[in-house]
Amino acid sequence: MTAHPTIRPRAGVLDIAPYVGGESSAPGANRVIKLSSNENPLGPSAKAFDAYVEAVKGLALYPDGGHLALRRAIAEVHRLEAERIVCGAGSDELIALLCKAYAGAGDEVLYSQHGFLMYKLSALASGATPVTALERDLTADVDALIGALTERTRLVFLANPNNPTGTMVADAEVARLAAALPTRALLVLDAAYAEYVRLPGHDGGAGLVKTRDNVVMTRTFSKIYGLAALRLGWAYGPAHVIDVLNRVRGPFNVTAPALAAGEAAVRDRAWVEHCAVTNDVWRDWLAKEIRAAGFAVVPSHGNFLLIETEERTSAVDAHLKARGLIVRRMEGYGLPGHLRITVGDEEGCRAVAEALSNFGTGA
Ligand SMILES: Cc1ncc(COP(=O)(O)O)c(C=O)c1O
Repeated sequence: MTAHPTIRPRAGVLDIAPYVGGESSAPGANRVIKLSSNENPLGPSAKAFDAYVEAVKGLALYPDGGHLALRRAIAEVHRLEAERIVCGAGSDELIALLCKAYAGAGDEVLYSQHGFLMYKLSALASGATPVTALERDLTADVDALIGALTERTRLVFLANPNNPTGTMVADAEVARLAAALPTRALLVLDAAYAEYVRLPGHDGGAGLVKTRDNVVMTRTFSKIYGLAALRLGWAYGPAHVIDVLNRVRGPFNVTAPALAAGEAAVRDRAWVEHCAVTNDVWRDWLAKEIRAAGFAVVPSHGNFLLIETEERTSAVDAHLKARGLIVRRMEGYGLPGHLRITVGDEEGCRAVAEALSNFGTGA
């Protein structure tokens, strides 16, 4: 602790344990495969890459602070209104801005037991009180969330599918939650993994945003679009929320290369579909192999699998790391007996399957 005796930040800030990202090195391994942050092993669309390279020619100029071309592209592709979209430096920035704008001292920010870690961190950073609702079968429980609502609730975050569990709440349940919110609260549907979901008609919650004034959806270019390094996300919400986010964000919060790459990426639907289909194939294959190796796997709608390693967690993690396979420990999510493994490409999936099938055999 390096706190100063008199110069202190707002209450709550020093309660924040800084976010620890997925590891990226495995000392001693010849080949390292990073499966710890749910990045896309296939990378971005070639068109996004080309747009990024082209945008480098304009580095001397400020980007378009209104994100107009990107918002238009997103609106066209998803059939939304461009005026109701705002872009951010990753959806992390949008989550933080929502907390900053809507929740302060004395307010509550609600999310489920194993919800994405940034909800707690952003709530604390804005001085608000984080509140969790128990899950059922590692899935957000709408009744428990409704039961935890109070007059002080300002924001409810629901990742659907959730990271790190991969589980989902049905659309009708999400709608029930939105309808149960107190009048001063906003529901944030975090649809970071929506493009991986293969349920017919799934729209990440956009339809609900269209019909209600208390729901906002966040999306990211870090997952299926393979642009995590660029830090790009967007939110779609009611006009009053978009207006607020535009007031609290920085004027040039998204860089020009990110805007250019994002626009090309969102228009390349063939690449998105290819990545979703490939993920399906390898996620299902990997889950089967992991079960065959003797570990339970939580059924996932995302590009990752949560596996039950129980008291073997440290040994399994070390065994994978010795083979250059970096996965995510789950203590920070209250899931100490679990590991989360991103669905890699064929090489990555085969390497994980082989390593887990050898676990405990001395091979
Ligand atoms: C559920 C969820 N929401 C948001 C994010 C943040 O994504 P971004 O890279 O857009 O900040 C992640 C990243 O892991 C996530 O899993």
